[in-house]
Amino acid sequence: MAIKKVFVIGAGTMGNGIAQVSAQAGYDVVMSDIKDEFIQKGMATIEKSLDRMVKKETMKEADKATVLARIKTTINMKDAKDADLVIEAAPEILDLKKNIFKQLDEICKPDAILATNTSSLPIGEIAASTKNPARVIGIHFMNPVPVMKGVEVIPGRHTTDAVLEASKEYVKKIGKEPCEARDYAGFIVSRLVDALMNEAFYCVMDGNKPEEVDKAIKLCLNHPMGPLELCDLAGADVVMHGLETMYEEFGERLMPAPLLKNMVRSGDLGRKTGRGFYDYTQK
Ligand SMILES: NC(=O)c1ccc[n+]([C@@H]2O[C@H](COP(=O)([O-])OP(=O)(O)OC[C@H]3O[C@@H](n4cnc5c(N)ncnc54)[C@H](O)[C@@H]3O)[C@@H](O)[C@H]2O)c1
Repeated sequence: MAIKKVFVIGAGTMGNGIAQVSAQAGYDVVMSDIKDEFIQKGMATIEKSLDRMVKKETMKEADKATVLARIKTTINMKDAKDADLVIEAAPEILDLKKNIFKQLDEICKPDAILATNTSSLPIGEIAASTKNPARVIGIHFMNPVPVMKGVEVIPGRHTTDAVLEASKEYVKKIGKEPCEARDYAGFIVSRLVDALMNEAFYCVMDGNKPEEVDKAIKLCLNHPMGPLELCDLAGADVVMHGLETMYEEFGERLMPAPLLKNMVRSGDLGRKTGRGFYDYTQK
């Protein structure tokens, strides 16, 4: 399964990053979206990112031009017909992704790998919308794509070993490290970070001060950010939605803490409302 041509669906936050790192690694890339203005925005983000690298002298000006020349764009998904690997980075809506995969299944070569960058949706369910679930896999990049070294690779129940191995090879070739995860809610990263955050909520309920919980995790475990600061950054409502998904999958072990529910009900969602575990109205 030689991968030469990578087709990226979605030119947003994740899609343009995936297109960039793939082009940097020498792949021929096509970045697609539903409107030309979204493509232009995505290309502008890639150019800015490459400019930063040239400024920092981690890339030569001539190489920037070569990388940009490797990225073609389209608003027609049918242009995926000769791709070896398709990576879907459209919004996190199950029906939308299932519809895209159903179309890709018709458009693409029979041996093309169809990957989704979903953060949380079941790979098996997306794969089930195709006639050949054996070639569907999760390749879950972290944000910001050009910076983060780890990529979760998630085979579904029917994904072949050949597809898994070729996907891991691709991740290595773009200079990143594949972390193989099973197809259960939250894979590895979101599941563990949600569990850490939830237990941090209980620590606060037990009387620990938020700033002491965050300080302990940062200074004693070397995390760059504490779990409560992270909750305020992501938004308590977003964290609660994630935990509810975990609860459906794993039951009581990951039931959202009452404190989190209370904060969401009260509108204390974190930075975006000015108040969460910390007060942002004075900053
Ligand atoms: N943003 C993150 O931090 C992050 C991290 C990891 C994974 N993800 C996952 O990556 C995926 C994309 O997230 P994002 O933050 O880049 O979203 P985004 O909203 O920034 O970009 C999505 C893009 O997909 C386009 N799109 C919609 N339907 C399309 C179609 N049929 N064909 C082509 N393009 C289409 C939209 O116009 C938009 O430009 C989601 O599944 C998300 O859960 C996001």
